Amino acid sequence: MTEQKLQQLLQDMTLEEKVNQMLQLAGGFFTGDMMAMGPMAEKGFTQENVAQAGSVLGALGAEKLKKIQQDFMEKHPHKIPLLFMLDVINGLKTIYPIPLGQGATFEPELAERCAQMAAKESAVSGLHVTFSPMVDLVRDARWGRVMESTGEDPYLNSLFAGAMVKGYQGEDLQEPYRIAACVKHFAGYGAPTAGRDYNTVELSRHTLKEFYLPAYKAGIDAGAALVMTSFNTIDGVPATGNKWLMRKVLREEMGFDGVLISDWAAIEEIIYHGYCADRKEAAVRAAQAGVDIDMMTGIYSEHLCKLVREGEVPEALVDEAVYRILELKNKLGLFENPCKDADEEKEKAVILCKEHRALAREAARKSFVLLKNEEVLPLQKGRKTAFIGPYVDNRNMIGSWSIVGETKDVTTLKEAVLERPEGEHALFAAGCPVLGGDLKLEGFSESMEEQYSDEECAAMLEEAVKKAAEADMVVLALGEHRLQSGEATSNANIQIPQVQMELLERVCAVNDRVAVVLFSGRPLDIRAISARAQAVLQVWLPGTEGARAILDVLSGDYAPSGKLPMSFPYCVGQVPVHYNEYSTGRPHVEGKDKDRFRSKYLDIPNEPLYPFGYGLSYTRFAISPAEIDKETMTGAESLHVSVKVKNVGDAAGTETVQLYLHDIAASVVRPVKELKGFRKVTLAPGEEETVTFEIREEMLRFLTENDRWESEAGEFEAFVGADSSTVNCVKFRLDAPKDGGLG
Ligand code: BGC
Repeated sequence: MTEQKLQQLLQDMTLEEKVNQMLQLAGGFFTGDMMAMGPMAEKGFTQENVAQAGSVLGALGAEKLKKIQQDFMEKHPHKIPLLFMLDVINGLKTIYPIPLGQGATFEPELAERCAQMAAKESAVSGLHVTFSPMVDLVRDARWGRVMESTGEDPYLNSLFAGAMVKGYQGEDLQEPYRIAACVKHFAGYGAPTAGRDYNTVELSRHTLKEFYLPAYKAGIDAGAALVMTSFNTIDGVPATGNKWLMRKVLREEMGFDGVLISDWAAIEEIIYHGYCADRKEAAVRAAQAGVDIDMMTGIYSEHLCKLVREGEVPEALVDEAVYRILELKNKLGLFENPCKDADEEKEKAVILCKEHRALAREAARKSFVLLKNEEVLPLQKGRKTAFIGPYVDNRNMIGSWSIVGETKDVTTLKEAVLERPEGEHALFAAGCPVLGGDLKLEGFSESMEEQYSDEECAAMLEEAVKKAAEADMVVLALGEHRLQSGEATSNANIQIPQVQMELLERVCAVNDRVAVVLFSGRPLDIRAISARAQAVLQVWLPGTEGARAILDVLSGDYAPSGKLPMSFPYCVGQVPVHYNEYSTGRPHVEGKDKDRFRSKYLDIPNEPLYPFGYGLSYTRFAISPAEIDKETMTGAESLHVSVKVKNVGDAAGTETVQLYLHDIAASVVRPVKELKGFRKVTLAPGEEETVTFEIREEMLRFLTENDRWESEAGEFEAFVGADSSTVNCVKFRLDAPKDGGLG
């Protein structure tokens, strides 16, 4: 439809029709599960609201959605199609590793391919929009939603944000198998105080802009069609009613001109924040902030028409929002092709197809991070291995946001072992349940797991210990329950359940070749695991093909190559912890522990147990001292920092060489290090490669005292190494700084 026709359509619509476009309803209203005169009326919705709503959340399936769309459009006064939206986070039915695991691949192009395949499964199932990517920066492992993020670094998160948006949307939303992406949660949702979900966010504007906003911006620059508001406050004002945040920062400074949707009932929640007295005021605030779609409340549909007629909300505000929604429908080509790619036959062919499963396996094995290995991995052929632990015969490895993915499609570790030669000499035992009797998780609709009696638990444990003693080595598959991380799963203790720690102790007492395969949605406190076991492989929640991918790595068919996208804290008392902290006036100096008045703890180190960027392989790499081609950067010239990377072990492997920069003195205090580049190199034993990073002036810009992205003349350090703790450093100067504007 041409722009002119779209404008005409807007003018032809009644006020009621327009406000109904801003309403999003649950799928049940259209499938007959919720009738217009049942629970709907209680929620304040009328039949007219349903008949003219703009979008639907939570309905799926080509046949169903085609029917809903056709029936709906037949009755709609202006034949405006519905938008179908859903959370497709790490895949629809073929489940890829959780986003935090995808971050560990340090391979945004891979995340782009995963998003593209997720889009294909979604599009043929009738969907038009996914509420992904979630690009919130995260520093606090107590917050369960860290699993949905790609980690603690603005640069890495930005690359993944852009890649995922491109993967979902492609170049043109009308292309087959493309769906619209929604960058969320704007803004700062990843920093809830004390790691407690939905809690207040306290960020200085400087920190918000410098660390938290870049990934949203990258998603928007990549063309994200939607942005979702966050539940939290920013500067004391709930994001969903925050005019400064949405109008000034999002629209004006970041240039976003797509659809802004509230998070689930977030317009109503601004009342509970104590920001508005009632629903009417909430409608005014959200509309003024420019929230286009009201997800799951009736606040707009109850109040906006009246508010416009009373002159309290200008009709232009409604028109602006509705035009953006119509524009999105038009970009997807829905006026001409209301069911877009929905197709029952294609659903059968595409969902969980070979190609998607192969990609899920590739993404999973690249996401695993080898944290420790005292020469127990890879498994030695022909030796007897006992696979022990509650994750050995368990399909629950798809992550709590895999809301459509089914565990029945997941291969277990035991099945994956039995498919391979390793199966011949393998022993298996669960050893214990995932959670154990003492751990109760309340309020989940999904049941946690089977209940075992004390006697059954004791028998399980003894059987496992016996098999561990019999075997040459043990692969111990431990971890969080998949529902222990995700939305509303904050934890004050970030350890695996106690019952599994007991299993670890008993197994380690009878076998001194124990490799822990660790499943989790968040960094955990793994001091005890790391001290007790001879190897630790972090596998996150690896998805549908996770088990086969684990075997690829354990067997040595694929050398581990993942790097941590989030620091693994020493213990929970250290969080929030992140490598890119600001310099302090009293930095702790290595070896000066007796120097009392320093920024340090009395009882634990400052450093996390495993830092950002860390990860081993089955070989070792030597990185030479960094060299620089000139000492001063002038004008538009760039300079180059190089290292030689050599594989000095006896297996092939991949190293991710990382570049960090540090501005030594600036008008605003700078982080001690900031990731600015990385390169993955795959080398055969004995092979060497020179890795060169170009440093350009714009890489030195930051949010200065002028509140602009500028570089400043002066001295810098460039670090190149295998993780964020590297001290391999060269210095250089910048002589010709520049102003890069507002962002
Ligand atoms: C979450 C969002 C999600 C929405 C819709 C909310 O509870 O915070 O991330 O997109 O629900 O399912």
